[in-house]
Amino acid sequence: PPLDAFDLIIFGGTGDLAQRKLLPALFHRYADGQITDAARIYGLARDSLDDGGYRERVRAALQKTMHDARAAEALDGFLALLRYRTIDLTSDAGWPELAGELGACDRVQVFYLAVGPDLFGHVGDRLQRHGLARPCTRVVVEKPIGRDAVSAAAINDALGRVFAESQIFRIDHYLGKETVQNLTALRFANALFEPLWNAGHIDHVQITVAETVGLERRASYYDRAGALRDMVQNHILQLLCLVAMEPPASLDADAIRDEKLKVLRALKPIDAHSAAQLTVRGQYRAGAVEGQAVPGYLDELGRTDSRTETFVALKAEIANWRWAGVPFYLRTGKRLAQRVSEIVISFRPVPHSIFGEQPLSPNKLVLRLQPDEGVTLWITNKVPGPGGLRLRNVPLDMSFAETFGGARHPDAYERLLMDVVRGNAMLFMRRDEVEAAWAWIDPIRAAWEASDDAPKPYTAGSWGPSAAVALIEREGRHWHEDA
Ligand code: BG6
Repeated sequence: PPLDAFDLIIFGGTGDLAQRKLLPALFHRYADGQITDAARIYGLARDSLDDGGYRERVRAALQKTMHDARAAEALDGFLALLRYRTIDLTSDAGWPELAGELGACDRVQVFYLAVGPDLFGHVGDRLQRHGLARPCTRVVVEKPIGRDAVSAAAINDALGRVFAESQIFRIDHYLGKETVQNLTALRFANALFEPLWNAGHIDHVQITVAETVGLERRASYYDRAGALRDMVQNHILQLLCLVAMEPPASLDADAIRDEKLKVLRALKPIDAHSAAQLTVRGQYRAGAVEGQAVPGYLDELGRTDSRTETFVALKAEIANWRWAGVPFYLRTGKRLAQRVSEIVISFRPVPHSIFGEQPLSPNKLVLRLQPDEGVTLWITNKVPGPGGLRLRNVPLDMSFAETFGGARHPDAYERLLMDVVRGNAMLFMRRDEVEAAWAWIDPIRAAWEASDDAPKPYTAGSWGPSAAVALIEREGRHWHEDA
């Protein structure tokens, strides 16, 4: 259904996130009729541009992501919703005019802070000073929220001085992915899994987010962040929470976030003593990804002295009743062999085998988040034929594309932006979650920084350093590979 009129004001309106994600997402919602002509969308940045110039830029960006002819027809209508205003986030220039234009608080006004986190506080203060922090105001902030627990708390304090927690939407775009939302459906809309969803029946869990891309024009950000901050602190821990949380009483935003928070707080700390056993970090060297030769990280960066990790594997444990002793093996990296994100729930073997010497493969539930979204349950079957009772592990396979048709999945940002306008915070991180995640990450970082070891090199196009394989294999387990 179409949304009521709203205003969306994007700080960083000419930036990469706005052009590559936000504006395409808004455009698709417009083309589908969810955003009406009554909406106003403002791009704000320092560049001096007028509405026309901005619309042409956005047109060029959108033409790259256009998915069908119907959408192309909607383009002019969408561009007409856009306005551009020049603004300096660290001075008052441009603000009174903006406030005048936005006018009364008679519609939802969303301010999207698609700028670096060091500017979040400034924007909050200016919004307040110019009378734009009102009941109709919502602010959206992107990760990274800080670089550690202390800086995250400072950002949250700065925003909290101006806005109520219910007005602040902290995006983790993984939560907007269809397949990630499906995890909640799978766990809580099926009677089959939940009784087995605990240490009594699950041997271990794997979460892999593998990418083939390298630095992608983000060198200055990425080299200061590294894979632990860039991916593990947010996306991967959020996935872990959704796998591990207790059933919330409802889909109420706080009911879910309370349960996720308990998981984060129950993560067993990794410290200077255990980091060497429980974590592996890597940095890619030159190699070939999907048949293309690519340079190593340091060459891409143009420096020789960086110890930033582009790969992390680690073994996490959740110290609570449900999960005691169940390892969660997590890994993520750039320039790996294949782009694939998946969660693998590996069940325990049957207690007793009646099949003699034949090895039995335990059941696995594989949730493929991207690409080729789907759910696969691996079960053991008899191989048909008159011979003996021969067993084979085979997949019960559900592909999203086959089951739900080939229609394009809305991008995560489409869902998330509409949720902000509707005021549904279910898929956004609450302050305490972000801080609890950092509290677990910080000691890992500290242990790495204190150690003399550099990240382990791996060849671009591989699955990361061999130590990441050893991390799981020395415990008699293997990283899942689709057979
Ligand atoms: C971002 C990270 O949050 O997520 C990037 O900063 C990463 O480094 C990206 O590439 C991955 O997102 P997706 O949706 O492509 O899996």
